[in-house]
Amino acid sequence: MKVCAVILAAGSGRRMNVGRNKVLLKLEDQSALMRCLQTFASSGLFAEIVVACRPEDRAVIEQKVADHLPDAAIRFCDGGSERQYSVREALRLVPEDVEIISVHDAARCFVTVPVIERSVRMAEEFGSGVAAVPMTDTVKRVENGIVESTLSRDGLVRVQTPQSFRAELLRKAHAQAEEDGFLATDDAALVERLGCPVHVSEGAPDNIKLTVRQDLREGARILRGRSGGMRVGTGFDVHPFGEGRPLILGGVDFGCDRGLIGHSDADVLVHAVMDALLGAAGLPDIGVLFPDTNERYHGASSLLLLAEVGSCLRTRGFRIVNIDCTLILEEPRIRPHAEEMQQNVAAALGIAASAVSIKATTAERLGALGRREGAACQAVCLLAGGGSGA
Ligand code: CTP
Ligand code: MG
Repeated sequence: MKVCAVILAAGSGRRMNVGRNKVLLKLEDQSALMRCLQTFASSGLFAEIVVACRPEDRAVIEQKVADHLPDAAIRFCDGGSERQYSVREALRLVPEDVEIISVHDAARCFVTVPVIERSVRMAEEFGSGVAAVPMTDTVKRVENGIVESTLSRDGLVRVQTPQSFRAELLRKAHAQAEEDGFLATDDAALVERLGCPVHVSEGAPDNIKLTVRQDLREGARILRGRSGGMRVGTGFDVHPFGEGRPLILGGVDFGCDRGLIGHSDADVLVHAVMDALLGAAGLPDIGVLFPDTNERYHGASSLLLLAEVGSCLRTRGFRIVNIDCTLILEEPRIRPHAEEMQQNVAAALGIAASAVSIKATTAERLGALGRREGAACQAVCLLAGGGSGA
């Protein structure tokens, strides 16, 4: 589906009170807005990104985008006096053939690709996907400093952005709100008014909105947690060739009748990637996780196992920075299929395809691999986080 993002940067940051629009404040090396745009652009999910900004901020923002994201399809519009009006202005720039629109506050600059992807996928399937996290605090209604009642925490969530919707649903919700003079602080509220179900997708505790000054300190902590604690992992796998087996590498079926022998689909590339990821996370290897004594894994698609590894890392708070693989085999030629393999691996892990690199080399006819008796793969990966950033 054609998906477009709307990034809202047209506020003034009154509550932050730093004398300028808070989304232009630098956190470490980047402004909040540029951090958001980088994450959205690198996700590979969006055909186009529309940024709503104030006319007085526009020249600075356009220059930064030209310098740092020259290849991204990013357009700009003037925002409105309220957040909702900024969304409305941006919707005018979203092309008619876009099917899913993801609205995101630039002030939520610690958003990660998995959070964005879950919101978009939910909207593709159900029409809406609003990032949310469970309530952990007890919530009370207070009047004049006195507790009136305690709300049950059951069924309460804190909503975030991105909030993704089928385009026609979001446009209709905004048109209706405009007609009724209804104003809300998020887009889901406008869709709820139409009586349409709003689905929630898994957000992240770190996906905070920079609102008051204290959030800058929390933001610095989040970034420290991400840049520190990098972990590297390596994986290696080898499988022999055999007649009458399909050859599957990186989830791509090469259509040969001489493929790799193994308990699962013997996808040597995906196996090496899984071991690199598990190694980096300090977890047991795939032999322990997916033993070949378990019938469930007989003939299993390794991409499904890879997705399991991905979610295992996510729940431990790891973010995959990048993966680099080298296949070692005499034939067939890999390069024509490398992009598809790269996309398969990235999709299984919910990361950007640009974070996965796949290349191949021959063994120069040396040894068993050189005699075409088998194929091997080595993989290296880098993980960030561990305890945050999911
Ligand atoms: N926003 C916008 N247009 C507006 C108001 C807000 O695009 N007229 C954007 C902000 O830039 C921010 C997001 O909507 O990324 C969420 O709004 P909020 O946190 O309220 O930001 P501000 O309105 O800038 O802050 P404040 O309310 O404290 O002035
Ligand atoms: Mg505001």
